[in-house]
This record gives sequence, C-alpha cells and structure tokens, in this order.
Amino acid sequence: GSASKGEYRHFMLKEIHEQPAVIAETLEGRLGDRSVLVESFGPDAEALLAQVAQIHLVACGTSYHAGLVARYWLERYAGIPVQVEVASEYRYRRVVVPENTLFVTLSQSGETADTLAALRFAKARNYLGSLAICNVPGSSLARESDLTLMTRAGPEIGVASTKAFTTQLTALMLLTLALGRVHGQDAEEQASLVEALRGLPARVERVLALDAEIEDLSTAFAEKHHALFLGRGAHFPVALEGALKLKEISYIHAEAYPAGELKHGPLALVDSDMPVISVAPNDELLDKLKSNLQEVRARGGELFVFADEGVGLANDDGIRVLHLPPIEDALAPILYTLPLQLLSYHVAVLKGTDVDQPRNLAKSVTVE
Ligand code: G6P
Repeated sequence: GSASKGEYRHFMLKEIHEQPAVIAETLEGRLGDRSVLVESFGPDAEALLAQVAQIHLVACGTSYHAGLVARYWLERYAGIPVQVEVASEYRYRRVVVPENTLFVTLSQSGETADTLAALRFAKARNYLGSLAICNVPGSSLARESDLTLMTRAGPEIGVASTKAFTTQLTALMLLTLALGRVHGQDAEEQASLVEALRGLPARVERVLALDAEIEDLSTAFAEKHHALFLGRGAHFPVALEGALKLKEISYIHAEAYPAGELKHGPLALVDSDMPVISVAPNDELLDKLKSNLQEVRARGGELFVFADEGVGLANDDGIRVLHLPPIEDALAPILYTLPLQLLSYHVAVLKGTDVDQPRNLAKSVTVE
C-alpha cells in the first residue's frame, strides 16, 4: 500500500477497509492443505517449536492486546501455558524463566523502546529462543530475534492501530497452529481451523459492510463522557482493544471489564449516561454473558451489543443489537474487533478530533 488516503477521508478508515486484503496477504503461502506450514517461521523453526514448553509474550499498547487474545488460543489449541505482559513492566521484574520457555515479542513497528529493551533483557536469560511477530521487515526486533514471522499489513499511518492488530492476530493463530502441529493437536481440529482461516477475509468483508449501521449507532456516543466495554474469554481483550480505540481517538474515557467482574465494581457506575458496549459471539460463555447484560439493563444502563445472528438477542428498550455473520469460535476475536474499530472511528469523526493524529500520542514510541 502507498501512503495516500485514496477515496477515504482518513488513513484510519482506509486501513480498516484494507483488512480483508492484508489478512489474506498474511496467510499467503503459510497454509498447507490441512495444516499450517511450520517452515513459515524459518527453516529451523520446527525443531525449536517442538521443544517449547511455555511462552512469555511481551508487547505494548494494541500489540499487548493481541498477545492477550493469543493466550486463550495457545492454551486451548496447543496446550501451551502463556504469560503475557506489557514490556515496561516485564523488563523490570526478576523474571523466573522455566526451562524451554520461548520469548515472543509482538510489535507493529519493531522499534518500540520498551519492547526492544525487553528482548535484550530476555536474551541475557535462559530462554529457549526468541520469536518476533512484527510488521516492519529489517526492524530492530526482527533483526535481533531468532525467529520472525512478518505480518504483512503494509504501512500503517493512523496512530490508532487497526490492520496491524488483526494481522497480528492472524499471525498468532498461525503460531498456535504451528505449535499445535508439533505438540499433537488433533489433525481434524487443525484442518478445520486452517479451513476457517481461508474463509476469514470474506467474513471480514461482510462485517465491514455493516459500516453504515455502525455509523448510525455512533451518534449515541457523541455526547457521552464515559463508556464501558464488556467481553468474556478471548473477547475480554477484544473489549480492552475497543476501549483503547475509543479513548485514543475520541477522547471519551472508556474502560473494559471481563463481564463476570461487573458486579465487583463497575456496576456501581452504570446509569443512562454511560453506554455499555458488549461483544456476544455464539460461544460457550453466551448464557453467562446474557445474564451479565441483564444486570446492566436492570440498572437502567444503555446497551450496545455486537452479537452473532444466532444468539437470540434483539433490539428492545435499553438494548441495541447489531448482528454479525456466524464465525468459528476460534476466529471470533478477529471478527468482533472490526465493529469496535468502526464505532470509535465514527464517534471521533462526529466529535471532530484529529482521527489520524490524536493529541499526545505517537505512532511509534522509541523513547522510554
Ligand atoms: C504506540 C502506538 C500504538 C501501538 C504501541 C505499540 O503507543 O500509538 O498504536 O500499539 O505504540 O507499538 P508497536 O509498534 O510496538 O506495536
């Protein structure tokens, strides 16, 4: 991609709409018929990945949220325990490194100072090796890591990260499957996830087609000062990312909570002035989530729910529902990120902020 906005009003909107293409690009040449191609991680990757007993994953900002999603995947599909931490905390700890731990960094730029310092700190410890998942070939992180897997998002100009995040998630699913493959994941499960990944760009396209409906929802936020995002399981980090996007570009204070924690504090804040946004894919936590949403409605909260068309949620007093197409459980976090990106974009446009260059923020933080 070139650094021109083309037909789009902002780089952020252009980059949101590039996601079907750059996700497809990130998958290109990395999938076999029924399994991921482990050599995508480098010629020696298979031997190294076979030894991995756990993972320490370190990143900042949006990249950190991608790591939090990956923890659920790596545990569930590869049986590998994962610790995820922000780089500026990790590097100052007395980290205990169990045998055969892989150190993974995630970074769009490959130049974030704290993440790079964390890698250098890790290299002086007894890790099995390091892997960088990164969007800039030749960046410091890519050069200094044993293994690299490049996301192929192309240049991202908007400070609020969008396509870099979803391509990181795509790359992290490839990592999950590569590890699953060398750690005895059921072959049918691997084959069905590979099939699902092949269909992902088309699903993403369908969700982006909801843009006008999401723009319509955004008017309810323009005058608000606070918002609460809820999710469960791998959708808690999706909620964190949704809240971060809204904060970064619309300057509305937003928080994310795992929906089950609502009653341990944030429920006290709920009233008609604080919109509550929730993502409700059709997964094993759906019934639990629905009862959490009921708690919000019972307190006069205004709910905005992005839900699978099969979950039986519909517009009613105090609840607005936008339906997403069905998606395999594993890939739902990628799909449910999209409406949250579009929502914050439209809210920011309504508020007239500088969408691509929010105040006080930088695209790449190369100082500590
Ligand atoms: C800055 C950017 C964020 C980004 C974070 C980490 O804060 O504004 O969009 O997520 O840095 O950047 P990285 O390049 O390491 O992913």
